[in-house]
Amino acid sequence: MKNIVVIGGGTMGNGIAHTAAASGFDVALVDVSEAILDRAFSTITANLQRGVDKGKMTAEERDAVLARISRKTDVASVADADIVIEAIIEQLDAKTQLFARLDEVTKPECILASNTSSISITKIAAATKRPEQVIGMHFMNPVPVMTLVEVIRGIATSDDTYMKVEDLSKRMGKTPIEVNDYPGFISNRVLMPMINEAIFALYEGVATREAIDGVMKLGMNHPMGPLTLADFIGLDVCLAILRVLEQGFGDPKYRPCPLLVKMVDAGWLGRKSGRGFYDYRK
Ligand code: CAA
Ligand code: NAD
Repeated sequence: MKNIVVIGGGTMGNGIAHTAAASGFDVALVDVSEAILDRAFSTITANLQRGVDKGKMTAEERDAVLARISRKTDVASVADADIVIEAIIEQLDAKTQLFARLDEVTKPECILASNTSSISITKIAAATKRPEQVIGMHFMNPVPVMTLVEVIRGIATSDDTYMKVEDLSKRMGKTPIEVNDYPGFISNRVLMPMINEAIFALYEGVATREAIDGVMKLGMNHPMGPLTLADFIGLDVCLAILRVLEQGFGDPKYRPCPLLVKMVDAGWLGRKSGRGFYDYRK
């Protein structure tokens, strides 16, 4: 593996591109517009700068990492990729359309990985003619900091693909953990019901947002309270994951809190839009 293509330069895509380039890989970052790619590049630059400011990296090393990242707006430019890591919006149709296109434009041995939080890898793989080379490579946010990669095998994923992705995860400084393909995998099957319950507690007036977050931070030693974490993940992403859990298991225990639905309807998506459970506009 040498050439990595990351598709989607949002919260996760910029972190994956940052981490891959910092691990010595050549990375092409693909998104739909130059403006989005410029914003992603600024975020990567600012996050690398944290390391420079703390004396963990020199300015020359920062620039060398940035020089390994190229920006593209055309998916067809990924012909040289050894692996594509998809990190676009959490919607099945968008992902299956993209994977069908990637199947046409990448070389036959290229692995197609998805950073999906919850969507079936088996369904995404079925949009291609190479389901044995399709796999879930689920990084955690913020990618440069969090050590886990949840590696998800679809029903047809081959051992060879699994081993290559396990090896790549380690070369990116991460710890891979293997799971099978069921809605939300392990990470979000366990995390999202907790976040949803915290939103229900706010909706029902059990406590203020600060009190709910404070209980979980001080009482459970979580680094962030669940409402702060939901804002950090993106409320649209949280809602999409809960819908996948609700539909995938057919169990009403996963029904998204109406307050979450209303906030997403309003465009209050958390940090990335400036407003969520907290206000980030200042
Ligand atoms: N890029 C690079 N470095 C970053 C960073 C970023 N985006 N964000 C933080 N850092 C670094 C800081 O520079 C700092 O580095 P040093 O230790 O070298 O000084 C370190 O991370 C800690 O950061 P801070 O001191 O600024 O802040 P903190 O101690 O409050 O930690 C945090 C920030 C790591 C984000 C912490 O609050 C945390 O772990 N939060 C929970 C994150 C979490 O649960 N993530 C999983 C979300 S779920 C998911 O991702 C899956 C899904 O499908 C939804
Ligand atoms: P985001 O909304 O921050 O970014 C998505 C990006 O994808 C946007 O820049 C958008 O322009 C781009 N995009 C959409 N359609 C595209 C297409 N067809 N081609 C190229 N680019 C396209 O989303 P995010 O939070 O980075 O999430 C991305 C994926 O990662 C989702 O599947 C999500 O579930 C998953 N994920 C998110 C988190 C998180 O904490 N936010 C954590 C782990 C995994």
